Amino acid sequence: MSNYYEIPGQKSKELLEKKNKYVARGISASAPVFIEEAKGALMKDVDGNTFIDFAGGIGVLNAGHCPEPVVEAIKKQSEKLIHTCFMAAMYEPYVNLAERLANLAPGSTPKKVMFANSGAEAVENAVKIARSYSKRPGIIAFEMAFHGRTFMTMSLTSKVKPYKFGFGPFAPEVYKIPSAYCYRCYYRSTYPECGMHCLEQFDRFFVAEVAPETIAAIIIEPVQGEGGFIVPPKEFLPGLKSIAERHGILLIVDEVQTGFARTGKMFAIEHYQIEPDLMTVAKSIAAGMPLSGVIGKDYIMDAPDPGHLGGTYTGNPVACEAALATIDYIEKENLSARAEKIGNVIIKRLKEMQDKYQIIGDVRGLGAMIAIELVKDRKTKEPAKEETAKIIKECLNNGLFMLSAGVFGNVIRMLMPLVITDEQIEQALNILEKAVAKINREI
Ligand SMILES: Cc1ncc(COP(=O)(O)O)c(C=O)c1O
Repeated sequence: MSNYYEIPGQKSKELLEKKNKYVARGISASAPVFIEEAKGALMKDVDGNTFIDFAGGIGVLNAGHCPEPVVEAIKKQSEKLIHTCFMAAMYEPYVNLAERLANLAPGSTPKKVMFANSGAEAVENAVKIARSYSKRPGIIAFEMAFHGRTFMTMSLTSKVKPYKFGFGPFAPEVYKIPSAYCYRCYYRSTYPECGMHCLEQFDRFFVAEVAPETIAAIIIEPVQGEGGFIVPPKEFLPGLKSIAERHGILLIVDEVQTGFARTGKMFAIEHYQIEPDLMTVAKSIAAGMPLSGVIGKDYIMDAPDPGHLGGTYTGNPVACEAALATIDYIEKENLSARAEKIGNVIIKRLKEMQDKYQIIGDVRGLGAMIAIELVKDRKTKEPAKEETAKIIKECLNNGLFMLSAGVFGNVIRMLMPLVITDEQIEQALNILEKAVAKINREI
């Protein structure tokens, strides 16, 4: 794995030409390689180059690439039944998975579940359910949030380019509030002396911006993902929950990226002992099969009348069986504990790197959801966007597949499959350190 790859290789180059000719320009990829096969934490491209995968299909592969029991479950189900549409003719995997998730979700209130196909679609449905239950129109979301690319979810999302620019007008009755991003605090305060302005701001907001009695829900990612792996202070989510409760506002917790063992618990919200009113799940739920869901308190989930929720492919039987096998596998292999261990090892090493390389402004994470934020200058915190791209490219050439994140494009996020071996982690961090050292010399 110490090779230096010429990227893209010949076959990837040819496929890239075809892609440029036939695929819409708006669909872009972060690396110019085409992957042919993958197993565990390793991916091989069409030219035979092997990469340690620190992207995990953007948080989809907590259980690794092609886990054996999931592959078997997909094969078995696809030989029996691929599709009927649950709204037309029902099948068992849908209700079995609903039961499993209802019992897995945190909190003592009985839960109900509905399925969709993507994270965005789950968020859309959570908003529909919250409005239907509360009879209120407003939704509060956070700066730096990412909830998807459909119209409602785009409206809830930050990072104007590339997610929103030129695509408006956006959905009405969406309100944004600064997030608990301590490294770049909106109030220029420092935790813990700050007194949590990020919670206090709601008092003013509810007077100056919008009446709380018109707000159906607050939606939040427990760790903001696309926004740069922003972990709020431990008081933030419990504080938010009590503000919501005080005003009869529902709390929707978007666990699309944080769910299924990534942060060291099955769901990240379990770190804060909060019971969400509604929770959205997707990504690592089914090891890559397209599936998402809304899990919520039963009396809230039952607000929309029969027929008011659904979709042709939602809760497809093959995807549901894949999810049941994935959840079994996550539990059997105790991937939550593994995520915590991976997180400790990687954070320790990244902090050592931070001591050596000025470019690393911040190291943060929860469990195995880990990131570094790169800056040109530690005092001004000027985002090192170009340098971030260079480090990621350098890593790719050395066999490590990484992704950027952050509204300023200066965060490197790590979402390795949790089945990764200790040796692969060590190898990956060596590649990363070499790249950081090289680019650090340029600032
Ligand atoms: C927190 C969160 N919510 C929603 C989404 C949207 O999911 P999808 O791309 O499956 O629509 C994402 C995707 O990255 C996400 O991270």
